[in-house]
Amino acid sequence: MDVSKYPKFYTIGITDRCNAACIMCFRTSPNEAKKSRNDMPLEYLKKLHQGLLNAEVIRWYADGEFFAVRNLEYYMDYIKQYTARENGFSTNGKLLKKYAAMIAESNINFIDISLDGATPETLESIRIGVKLKDIIEGIFELQKECELRSKPCPKLKFVFCSMRRNIEEIPLVIELAHQVRVSTVYMMPLDTGFHPELEKEKLSYYPGLEREYFQQAKKLAKKYNILFDHTHRKVLNLDDADETTNKDQLMGHKITDSMIACPLPWSDVLVTQEGEIKVCCYNPRIMGSLRDSTLEEIWHGEKFGRLRQSVLNKTFSEGCSDGKCHIAGGNLHYIL
Ligand SMILES: C[S@@+](CC[C@H](N)C(=O)[O-])C[C@H]1O[C@@H](n2cnc3c(N)ncnc32)[C@H](O)[C@@H]1O
Ligand code: SF4
Repeated sequence: MDVSKYPKFYTIGITDRCNAACIMCFRTSPNEAKKSRNDMPLEYLKKLHQGLLNAEVIRWYADGEFFAVRNLEYYMDYIKQYTARENGFSTNGKLLKKYAAMIAESNINFIDISLDGATPETLESIRIGVKLKDIIEGIFELQKECELRSKPCPKLKFVFCSMRRNIEEIPLVIELAHQVRVSTVYMMPLDTGFHPELEKEKLSYYPGLEREYFQQAKKLAKKYNILFDHTHRKVLNLDDADETTNKDQLMGHKITDSMIACPLPWSDVLVTQEGEIKVCCYNPRIMGSLRDSTLEEIWHGEKFGRLRQSVLNKTFSEGCSDGKCHIAGGNLHYIL
């Protein structure tokens, strides 16, 4: 398979700092909480420039909070030159109101807002330091600033991490999405890898519960014309007769008949705040560093070559099976 000159999909950890302390986040686990955190030096971003000019998708976050970047105006001034088809970030929404005008001025065209509850009590018991009220006000402010400029508002999505304590609120999240004009809602399962104390929050311990609330929410979403889905449809035992919204997509990639097991080694890079390049968030192997190499050298280098070969021959031996990747684990239904 041919390798394009540059990757097409970029996930860029512009910072690994955060202004919240969510109970399930790896950052709040005892060892991670001690680490010092920083913003990505602009010189690393500049090393991605040629690739970013032709990128199809840019996600400006990895392990941190986009709005926690110290000198955000300075970074935005630089990154607003990129006009990828999908160009956005995930946020806890805490500072959306403060930066709404700046976002409206930019080329950002999608924002995923993490919303793990539809009531202040539930959301604020999970997303410590974030207030539901601030998220809602931020959404209204962004819509207002975009209208003032006669620009379309970035596409907004709610991302709901489902747990025992919040699952009953997923239909309410759909109601809220309808009220504040958010067009898409996704559910995703809780990972307790960094927080074993949350084990009993996992919905696998309550058979049928997640499916029941998913179906209730699905009906409402249909009524309001909201796109609603689950990132791990298989855990809900949804059969083919169930309507899907993303069945022709695999991590944002269009699924084609000739698709190999995983397209990411031919299209994606994840760049950490420290300038290290990986292929995705599941594979821990470092393919190279922007400290001492160019993007082109890493992308066309030996390590990426070996990774591609291991995916082609489906051994997944170059780090893919070290993490929790569902594709390497043989479950191609990851998001189908
Ligand atoms: C690590 S955050 C970074 C972006 C931003 N700070 C935010 O909260 O949206 C990215 C996403 O991971 C989710 N997340 C964090 N810890 C998780 C866990 N243990 N299981 C599942 N999702 C988790 C968050 O809810 C969020 O939607
Ligand atoms: S806001 Fe995001 S990065 Fe920050 S603690 Fe919460 S999930 Fe983690």
